[in-house]
Amino acid sequence: MEHLIKHAFPADFLWGAATAAYQVEGAAAEDGKGVSVQDAKNFSNAFHDTTVTSDHYHRFREDIALMKSLGLKSYRFSIAWTRIYPDGVTLNPQGVAFYNQLIDELTKNGIEPLVTLYHFDHPQVLQAEFGGWYSEKMIDYFLRFSETCFREFGDRVRWFMTICESNNVVLYPDLIGGVPPGVDVEAWRFQVSRVMALGNARVISCCRRLLPETKIGPCIGYAIAYPATCAPQDVMAALNEDEFRTFYPLDLLCLGRQNPLVVNFFAQRGLDIRLPQAELDEIKAATPDFIAFNYYQSDVARACPAGETEAQPGFNPDGKKGGFVYPRFPGLYAGDSNPYLERSDWDWEIDPIGLRIACRKLFDRYQLPLMITENGLGARDSLVNGEVSDVYRIDYLQKHIAQMRLAIGDGVPLLGYYPWSFIDLMSTTNGYNKRYGFIYVDREDNDTKNLTRYRKASFYWYQNVIASNGETLD
Ligand code: BG6
Repeated sequence: MEHLIKHAFPADFLWGAATAAYQVEGAAAEDGKGVSVQDAKNFSNAFHDTTVTSDHYHRFREDIALMKSLGLKSYRFSIAWTRIYPDGVTLNPQGVAFYNQLIDELTKNGIEPLVTLYHFDHPQVLQAEFGGWYSEKMIDYFLRFSETCFREFGDRVRWFMTICESNNVVLYPDLIGGVPPGVDVEAWRFQVSRVMALGNARVISCCRRLLPETKIGPCIGYAIAYPATCAPQDVMAALNEDEFRTFYPLDLLCLGRQNPLVVNFFAQRGLDIRLPQAELDEIKAATPDFIAFNYYQSDVARACPAGETEAQPGFNPDGKKGGFVYPRFPGLYAGDSNPYLERSDWDWEIDPIGLRIACRKLFDRYQLPLMITENGLGARDSLVNGEVSDVYRIDYLQKHIAQMRLAIGDGVPLLGYYPWSFIDLMSTTNGYNKRYGFIYVDREDNDTKNLTRYRKASFYWYQNVIASNGETLD
């Protein structure tokens, strides 16, 4: 239903933009920084190189001046764990100093920091020693790092996010260091979910103790699932996908309960994933202040009977449409494409209405305020005479913001919006071939060139959106 009354964005709405440390900072081995699992990655695709990326580490003052001119109210960035604790244990004062300077510069310019504590980049040494998030040992390391961030930066940071997309990292284990040899992937997934949920809860409790006024919440990636047809089997498949990918982790993080459907599914296959009541109680006691979610696209699910061959989800490596690998989870669901939607060159389906649906589903279920902490279009941009005419990105963002406004009209409390990304950065799966930023960075995957910044057309457009508090979308 379209609304007769256009609902406005709240006056204190956080118009933002987002990045993550390993994708934007560069300076991977400078000023005492340790090696993270991202630095250590040996992807077969040559683009994955964290040494320079967009050189934000050295150019953050210039970048914050651009944020100011864009009119950003808030900037979401992550703190590189290995700058603060290079080996997980020894504090590196130079790392603390860098983020102090960054936060001071933001504050001086009236830009509210939103800090992601964990964005896929724990110390490699913890991965090598005990498999990273696969081990409970990780919780104390994460707590030590987070507590330091609260003590060092909490006087100026009023918004924290704990772990970025804990639900997606379990789907794509290589994102965070991979499954240790000999470990079953499903068992790994549930152990990592458990350890992350406990880490999330302990960090939230610590934040409450040290910074009672500060707001903190978890972050998930949400691709809502549509049934491939109205056949009840497909509707069930879509429900299964939502339950497994999104509601199992969020029920745990927000309600301290394990989704019984998921527990039973694995029990039938001989895997007991029930958590001790004491752990559930601990998680439940650390209710978040909000749910942050990243939304790029929706999914399609079709029935996948128990006898079908399993296939793990993949991604499109080269930006040639049609190269995306859809998952097949027998007994649950199989992914498929959506004939009603346009898609990006990397086969990410473009679905603005899906964002409104996602807002409604999440708020209905959890009754917590929501923050959209990533949303954007990855594309090949061309710099022509110092200009980038990214009209396709404007179209994407415009349509998504219009749906956010409708979601507010539906009664969903939305706190902020952080398009991905503030500036071009190294895409996790596709390097600089696929760009997201409002600002073009002059470099290619294999040539760092001069890294000069250029405002894209979308920059000027978003400037107007922010200045009008979302009233002007054209
Ligand atoms: C999100 C991640 O899931 O997707 C980001 O939090 C990532 O780190 C973004 O960059 C877009 O994905 P990609 O693979 O295009 O970089």
